[in-house]
Amino acid sequence: MKIMVVGTGYVGLVTGTCLADLGNSVTCIDSNPDKLAVLKTCKSPFYEPGLDERLKRNVDAGRLNFSESLKDSFSETGVFFNAVGTPPMESGESDLSYVYAVVNEFFKTYKELGCTDFKVLITKSTVPVGTGSEIEAIRNSHGITEDQVAILSNPEFLREGTAIYDFFHPDRIVIGSSSEKALDIVQELYGPLYRNETPIVRTSIQTSELSKYASNAFLATKISFINEMANLCELTGADVSDISKIMGMDGRIGKYFLHPGPGYGGSCFPKDTKALVYLAKQLGYNLNVVAAVEDVNESQKKRVMSHVLDYFDNDIAGKTFALLGISFKPNTDDVREASSLTIIDLLLKQGAIVKAFDPEVKSLAQFEDNQNFSIVSDSYEAAELSDAIILVTEWNTFRELDLERLKSSMNKPSLFFDLRNVYSPEKLRDAGFETYVIGRKLLSSSQKITQNG
Ligand SMILES: NC(=O)c1ccc[n+]([C@@H]2O[C@H](COP(=O)([O-])OP(=O)(O)OC[C@H]3O[C@@H](n4cnc5c(N)ncnc54)[C@H](O)[C@@H]3O)[C@@H](O)[C@H]2O)c1
Repeated sequence: MKIMVVGTGYVGLVTGTCLADLGNSVTCIDSNPDKLAVLKTCKSPFYEPGLDERLKRNVDAGRLNFSESLKDSFSETGVFFNAVGTPPMESGESDLSYVYAVVNEFFKTYKELGCTDFKVLITKSTVPVGTGSEIEAIRNSHGITEDQVAILSNPEFLREGTAIYDFFHPDRIVIGSSSEKALDIVQELYGPLYRNETPIVRTSIQTSELSKYASNAFLATKISFINEMANLCELTGADVSDISKIMGMDGRIGKYFLHPGPGYGGSCFPKDTKALVYLAKQLGYNLNVVAAVEDVNESQKKRVMSHVLDYFDNDIAGKTFALLGISFKPNTDDVREASSLTIIDLLLKQGAIVKAFDPEVKSLAQFEDNQNFSIVSDSYEAAELSDAIILVTEWNTFRELDLERLKSSMNKPSLFFDLRNVYSPEKLRDAGFETYVIGRKLLSSSQKITQNG
């Protein structure tokens, strides 16, 4: 099949490359010339495990190419994926201007080139329910019928860091449209996956759009829930890692997304929960649970840092912190809405010095002018002459640290704030650290942790 994917971000580039891997001929479009320049050297502009090799393989095989213009090979293409960003606005509403710019360009091109053949315009970006109907209205206003261009929603559920695996082994594929013909074409496109047991759900465009937000909001709810349990563990002496295990053994609950931490980040959960609350409010309905999930997430970032500030009696000016992990989760270089940003900002504003290390993030534009901030080349360099380590992102490399070596070059007393529950408090204590492990052990029994952090 001849396919076009517009937007070569985490979703568009992975989708385009993997569809090419399935034997399709794919053109990926992006309006950013810098990204295109990198792509044309057969490299991904961002870090995603396994993507570079797959990208090169498909370019070499002639199945994958890149362009800045939708017009290139438009006529002979039957299936178009719109995978541009939908970033949050101040109000929480999703900014759909990129999505509609592509939609308008698509219909303009269809008319200009005098096309009459059947094409499917798929929205892969996460868009609020109602967007598909709006796109249909735009199509109609151009005098184009559903027999010429069908609109279909196909939300993406992949996770950065395991995006390629997720493309080939999705839990489900959701396609929503009022056009049976479009649903058949897209179902066929995903044939190699659903013939491999992946369930495919055919539904309405509205249900498909909302299913993405409902799923993300529920996952975010699990995270905020376990973070609150971790906070309660700290007040009661219970151990959140056992609580997670015990809860996860219940098949009705499931073991995933029950790991406490410094709040969720990334380009999806914060944006999608806010957009869902906003949408409901516009319709006169308060989504109380999801709104509370967001509130808990915001306060969690501050609460974990309150332990650090408490230890130093709120005076961290001149203290040096080794920050391990910047990306919002392991195996990606994505820092959008990462909790590390809030933590670094708080430390710097209070006059502390931050030496950060991340296996993939090598610069942070927003802090590069601050002399107290640097990104160093490994964990041991970060720890040197620091007063405390803060483990923010649970990259595998941080699970294997030589704790004795880390501690040996630090100032005394050496503190270890494990915000991801990677180490047991006993293991850190045996290595000579004073420790805080989220939901497991406080720095010392004399320290008072208040309910709201
Ligand atoms: N990142 C994820 O893990 C993930 C997972 C599921 C769903 N989503 C959703 O998928 C969508 C895309 O997310 P992303 O993280 O890939 O975004 P991104 O910001 O990484 O990439 C978007 C790309 O679109 C390009 N673009 C913008 N306007 C364009 C235009 N008019 N023509 C051509 N290219 C244009 C940008 O240059 C950029 O390269 C969002 O709606 C997001 O919510 C993301």
